[in-house]
Amino acid sequence: MTAATGHDSTAQQTFYLKDYTPFGFEVDSVDLTFRLAPNATRVISRIHFTPKADAADPQFFLHGEKLKLISASIDGVAVTPDVTPEGLVCTTPDTAFLWEAEVEIDPAGNTALEGLYMSNGMYCTQCEAEGFRKITYYPDRPDVMSTFTVRIEGDEEVLLSNGNPVSQGAGAAEWHDPWPKPAYLFALVAGDLVNHPDTFTTKSGRAVELNIWVRPGDEDKCAFGMDALKKSMTWDEQAYGREYDLDIFNIVAVDDFNMGAMENKGLNIFNSSCVLASPETSTDANFERIEAIIAHEYFHNWTGNRITCRDWFQLCLKEGLTVFRDAQFTSDMRSAPVKRISDVIDLRARQFPEDQGPLSHPVRPEEFQEINNFYTATIYEKGAEVIGMLKRLVGDGAYSRALDLYFERHDGQACTIEDWLKVFEDTTGRDLSQFKRWYSQAGTPRLKVDEAYEEGTYTLTFEQDTAPTPGQPQKDPRVIPIAIGLLNDNGDEVLPTTVLEMTEAKQVFEFKDLASKPVPSILREFSAPVVLERETSNAERAFLLAHDSDPFNQWEAGNSLARASRLSMVKTGSAPDPAYLDALQKLLRDDTLDPAFRALMLQPPSQSDIAQALFEDGTVPDPQKIDDAAETFAMTLAQQLADSLPRLYAATTVDGPYSPDATSAGKRALNGRILSLLTRLDGGDAAARQFASADNMTQQYSALASLMKAEKGETQSIAFFEKWQADRLVMDKWFALQVACASPDRAAGIAADLTRHPLFTLKNPNRFRAVMGALAGHHAGFHHASGAGYSLLAENLIALDKLNPQTTARMCTAFQTWKRYDSDRQSLIKAQLQRIASSGGLSRDTNEMVSRILNA
Ligand code: TRP
Ligand code: ZN
Repeated sequence: MTAATGHDSTAQQTFYLKDYTPFGFEVDSVDLTFRLAPNATRVISRIHFTPKADAADPQFFLHGEKLKLISASIDGVAVTPDVTPEGLVCTTPDTAFLWEAEVEIDPAGNTALEGLYMSNGMYCTQCEAEGFRKITYYPDRPDVMSTFTVRIEGDEEVLLSNGNPVSQGAGAAEWHDPWPKPAYLFALVAGDLVNHPDTFTTKSGRAVELNIWVRPGDEDKCAFGMDALKKSMTWDEQAYGREYDLDIFNIVAVDDFNMGAMENKGLNIFNSSCVLASPETSTDANFERIEAIIAHEYFHNWTGNRITCRDWFQLCLKEGLTVFRDAQFTSDMRSAPVKRISDVIDLRARQFPEDQGPLSHPVRPEEFQEINNFYTATIYEKGAEVIGMLKRLVGDGAYSRALDLYFERHDGQACTIEDWLKVFEDTTGRDLSQFKRWYSQAGTPRLKVDEAYEEGTYTLTFEQDTAPTPGQPQKDPRVIPIAIGLLNDNGDEVLPTTVLEMTEAKQVFEFKDLASKPVPSILREFSAPVVLERETSNAERAFLLAHDSDPFNQWEAGNSLARASRLSMVKTGSAPDPAYLDALQKLLRDDTLDPAFRALMLQPPSQSDIAQALFEDGTVPDPQKIDDAAETFAMTLAQQLADSLPRLYAATTVDGPYSPDATSAGKRALNGRILSLLTRLDGGDAAARQFASADNMTQQYSALASLMKAEKGETQSIAFFEKWQADRLVMDKWFALQVACASPDRAAGIAADLTRHPLFTLKNPNRFRAVMGALAGHHAGFHHASGAGYSLLAENLIALDKLNPQTTARMCTAFQTWKRYDSDRQSLIKAQLQRIASSGGLSRDTNEMVSRILNA
């Protein structure tokens, strides 16, 4: 199919893994001077290059984009390079030489938030993946590593860069980073900032100065992040033997930022929403996320910085591993089962649709047009799942020996997935060539299970199959670790968790000497990122919900009951399954269960999940019906619990001074679920009281959300706005809630009104995502039959693309599931995608996303 846009989608350059060629020069050292000025910053570079003797590509090409070249010289002699919009080429001597250049850039005019830009009057940088080329001419590729010395000249009170400080004086500062690094890890910050200082002593006795730098007024929101940083530093020493390696570690909070945070060497830069926390302004979920992101960026110091990627095709080398490590950290700090269940919910919500739609790509892609479009759930989250499988297959001991070897062998290098797998092969003697298919094959495998029982022998037959994905019509069988346990009729475990190693397309496993037919608990802990297909009865699901000793599968049993019940409600208009309602009520009251776990059990399957399940079942999903079923279910549950809800609400309310710890947060999560049920029955009295008396954002926010969902929160919403209008991060919550709590037929209209609100701006990605992300996440609202949701998003994406291609392209994913829906909705979406495609002057980022989605 060709998009009728007049655009030739093949006109854009595609980069291929197979074309990898090393750069023809060593970079011996980099020396940069920045003369800061909002619209005319001068960047002076002095770089020592040495030509490589056996270079496959001897051309001296330096990347550079949107730079005004003032002067260039080699060994002090002025040169005139050939300059294109992508960079420059220059003739160079055969021996080592000094390249000097001066360029001018415009940080204040940089709305793409890539390279050097200004946010609220402060200078900051974002160089991953290819932003350094917007700062100066340079071989901007991760396999080119060098030490950096940076001099910053500016009037700002705080002038920061990577590494250790060399000198600080009025109007200038100098930094030196002794660790060779690729340019994507470069960072600079300049602003009138204040710090929250602390110190850390590493296990070998090195004293490290720690700082979190923020705008004046935010000082009181740093303590939690600092504590998370120190915990991360200790954890990495204990769990991986990794110590910090500089005298200073700085974190800076920035309001305008395209993603969560960035691991620049010694100078992490954070979206302020991912570091600033206070009980009054942050929810429990915010606290947990901040702790995880601080850990993630800190862990990159070894997995990413000391050992980096050879090229961007290897992105999962650092991201998959670092997500895996931050998940281990969160499991150790909080509840491991709750973390696992939450991660699987997230994987299914974000990675599965990607892997099963037009944007499907391997964990290690082999081609791209714009690398920014590959910071995906597949690279990050599926990349982490692949490491979890590897660990399960080789065992914990071998995993930790392999990691020791990885750090020892590859420190200071830019590596590939082959290097990574080789340390496991060398440690264990295993052949991982079949396992490598997890990196090269896109798509989610479906795992079909059949069972038989005869004369004491129980047989499980597994069949794996992966549907074709773009560019990959044929799939080979993968190695799948299937953790299983067997239970007898009493619910006792007759086979404790055992890992079956499936390698064939179809494979049979036998279990002998069983007294009776067992009940299997399959894919415990979600041991592989697959879709399990098994004919089961609701009775068996209820049995596992009551007896499975694996908390993940216990939750999964409840989840599959919920899904089955919801599907039949949508398909046949039936009432909610009474057996499931009963089971839920029991769980809710079971005080032996962790409240956080009970809160997860009460979390209904997402409406998008139900749409996908219907689609796979051959039923065209009707978003309105799915929403109706969700409402009916919640109302029925509330009514059945009517007598006990006030008491349950009171019994689970957390009083006393707020603490963000996991135990209290779990209790508040359960209490919030109960409040949302109670609000359906009591006219909002309890929620209104909670809103009025709450001294923390978690309870205030859950009360407001419950009220607004019941259309009883108008007064409170206004009060909330008045109270918090000066706090950007809280206002993002307010904007998002207006849309998220709207009825399906009002969601798009409310979102449209909000884009005209004085506090709405296209320039702040957090604010844009608050409104447009909430709309895309409102399943029945976004997919409303009128198409108003689609056209509003398209209109805003077209406007945003002119300013910020990265965030625009990322939000195009809202359309990736379009093939699930009926032909009317499909043509409405297609028309909007074509409208974006033909809007003129589209960025490379957005152009790639729209054409991939359209060419489904
Ligand atoms: N490497 C960062 C991380 O995983 C994420 C990142 C990549 C990023 N590109 C970015 C962050 C652009 C902000 C902007 O933590
Ligand atoms: Zn990362």
